[in-house]
Amino acid sequence: MDLTRREVLALAGGLAGAQVVLGPVWAGEPGRVLTAAPAEVQLAPGDFPKTRVWSYGGQVPGPVLRQRQGEMFEARLVNGLEQETTVHWHGVRLPNEMDGVPGMTQAAVRRGESFDYRFALRDAGTFWYHPHANSLEQISRGLAGVLVVDEAEPPEVDAEEILVLDDWRLTEDAQLHPEFGNRHDMSHAGRLGNYITVNGAGELRRSYPKGARLRVRLVNAATARVFRLVFQGMNASVVALDAMPLEAPERIEQVEIGPAQRVDLIVDITAETGEEAIIGSVERDGTYATVSVSVDGAEQAVREAPQALPPNDLPVLEAEGARQVPLVMEGGAMRGLPERVMWQGSKMEARALYEAGQFWAFNGQAGMDGEPLIQAALGETVRVPMENRTAFSHSMHLHGQHFREVLPEGRVGPWRDTLVIHPDETREIAFVAENPGDWMFHCHMAAHQMSGMMNWIRIT
Ligand code: C2O
Ligand code: CU
Repeated sequence: MDLTRREVLALAGGLAGAQVVLGPVWAGEPGRVLTAAPAEVQLAPGDFPKTRVWSYGGQVPGPVLRQRQGEMFEARLVNGLEQETTVHWHGVRLPNEMDGVPGMTQAAVRRGESFDYRFALRDAGTFWYHPHANSLEQISRGLAGVLVVDEAEPPEVDAEEILVLDDWRLTEDAQLHPEFGNRHDMSHAGRLGNYITVNGAGELRRSYPKGARLRVRLVNAATARVFRLVFQGMNASVVALDAMPLEAPERIEQVEIGPAQRVDLIVDITAETGEEAIIGSVERDGTYATVSVSVDGAEQAVREAPQALPPNDLPVLEAEGARQVPLVMEGGAMRGLPERVMWQGSKMEARALYEAGQFWAFNGQAGMDGEPLIQAALGETVRVPMENRTAFSHSMHLHGQHFREVLPEGRVGPWRDTLVIHPDETREIAFVAENPGDWMFHCHMAAHQMSGMMNWIRIT
């Protein structure tokens, strides 16, 4: 049988071709199509059944999209799900209308419809993509993938590993637990899972010689779990966080990586031939290997310490004297919301909010309404001290621009787009409002996001 392009696409997306209308693929050049649709993948170990997931391109995580800095990025999202979706390009400094937030930057893409994303890749680095509609369910079911933007001259390494960490709540027959956003998850630490994966597998096995230098790109695609990774039999240095290079690489023994964060490492294998080198995830009941490297093959000479990556073109940030807009985070189990909280334009009693499935507030407001949390003039620098009065950690993410943490003695931290704030911490960030538009500012623990910790800023 001779399939037309349209039918091939519909089949690839697992769609019943007939009802689904797909437009032409890129007028002119054959384009990149990202189909969000149900699929089955072997997630749990081989003796378990396959897991029914929602995926991009039939795989979990989705395909690695890769281009060079300065190029135009183009992708058509085709929605083969039973519900509306969008794609958000997490961490990419792009024009507002490409940010993928339904009802804010674009209309939601309905079943069978498509949306064309197109933007210039200003920054090199490790990014990721995920839906911004019904995020808890859509991300938890597997919709996530990595976008790598290569530097003009990438550092010299022997190999690269892109490692997507995820956390699944599976039933005994390896299916996704069908409840998304129950009251317990929303009001506690989010939808923590019972099965951790790296690139969709329980453990990755690799083989490299002693002395091999790897570039490792870590991405946390989980909606709740904060990973703590330890390194054995290797020297690891952080070279970038949330896509942005550090001024100087930093040797580490362990690293925390919260939901949506990325950590780029240069790793030198130091274990002896015949031994194992391990990237382990520290969990409550022990440390689990996520990647095990059997050290094998012709030993390589020890390299010099890694160099900094070429910097991206970021604004000059002068935190001193900048306007401060404090953000107070309240709610959740143990501590609760204040007596009265704004929600959808009216003051409500905390109890009524819990009934409505709202458990968290920023500055006394649950969720978002017509007024932004922060209004900033284009080019203005804004400081936001974020005070976590809750009993849980939050992975706070700002769309459209990166920020730096304001540290004691006039110092500033590395550029990031997501910061984990633990209970009772206050962490202050500063950003230059360099990208006009309405941008989300929310907790990336998706169960918190849907139950109050979602707001926005306006830059004009
Ligand atoms: Cu990773 Cu609002 O996004
Ligand atoms: Cu949170």
